[in-house]
Amino acid sequence: MIDFDRIPAHVAVIMDGNGRWAQSRNLPHMAGHNAGMLALKEIVKASSTMGVQYLTVYAFSTENWKRSMEEVSGIFKLLVLYIEKELKELHENNVKVKILGDYEKLPKDAVKSLQRSLETTKDNSGLQFNIALNYGGRDEILRSVKKLAMEVEAGKLKAEEITEETIVKYLYTAGIPDPDMIIRTSGEMRLSNYLLWQSAYSEFIFTDVFWPDFSKKEYEKTIEIFQNRKRRFGGR
Ligand code: FPP
Repeated sequence: MIDFDRIPAHVAVIMDGNGRWAQSRNLPHMAGHNAGMLALKEIVKASSTMGVQYLTVYAFSTENWKRSMEEVSGIFKLLVLYIEKELKELHENNVKVKILGDYEKLPKDAVKSLQRSLETTKDNSGLQFNIALNYGGRDEILRSVKKLAMEVEAGKLKAEEITEETIVKYLYTAGIPDPDMIIRTSGEMRLSNYLLWQSAYSEFIFTDVFWPDFSKKEYEKTIEIFQNRKRRFGGR
């Protein structure tokens, strides 16, 4: 049973296995992403009802550009469709959308949709739904380090004044607490360049379920596993 007094504040997810889900049904890869979008809808809703404060999903990595043009453009089409279909409901449910990553390099219509979702939901105070798009953990750290180096060059900052806090200030996740748990579906046990800095003390939960089959019930199971872990943050 889930202890509703100890719901993780920040849940991060690697939505993996859409392709294998489709393959196992003899369906095209895109059908897997489509089903993945439906799963995502359910998890956003469940997070909001359970009182999760931040949900961060890995929708497109800086490495995903290596996939076929057909798949890449399919994912972005799906993203636009998702926003068109869901924005109203997200807003009604007080969800605040935020994007992590260099999303302005995405196709124009996707950027437009994303900006509309950011603008519409910016004052909402419920679940914060972070979508990692064109996101990479190393890229994020590199970007922060460059900004700090520029401040040093400009004489605004001294090298010895660089601290964890100054690095964090320039991460996409500035102002967001580190994830309490990171879920990866489909049996893969890697971080794949996701939230490298932020995951220092996160609990990792791996499940064999493919992302499109990751239901509210499966989600609740992972939260139970999380609640049974003992977190020490390096202490005793
Ligand atoms: C991983 O499955 C999934 C992705 C790279 C894309 C995730 C996209 C969605 C869940 C749907 C779209 C929703 C939004 C908001 C963009 P995979 O293709 O790597 O699966 P495989 O490892 O089995 O091939």
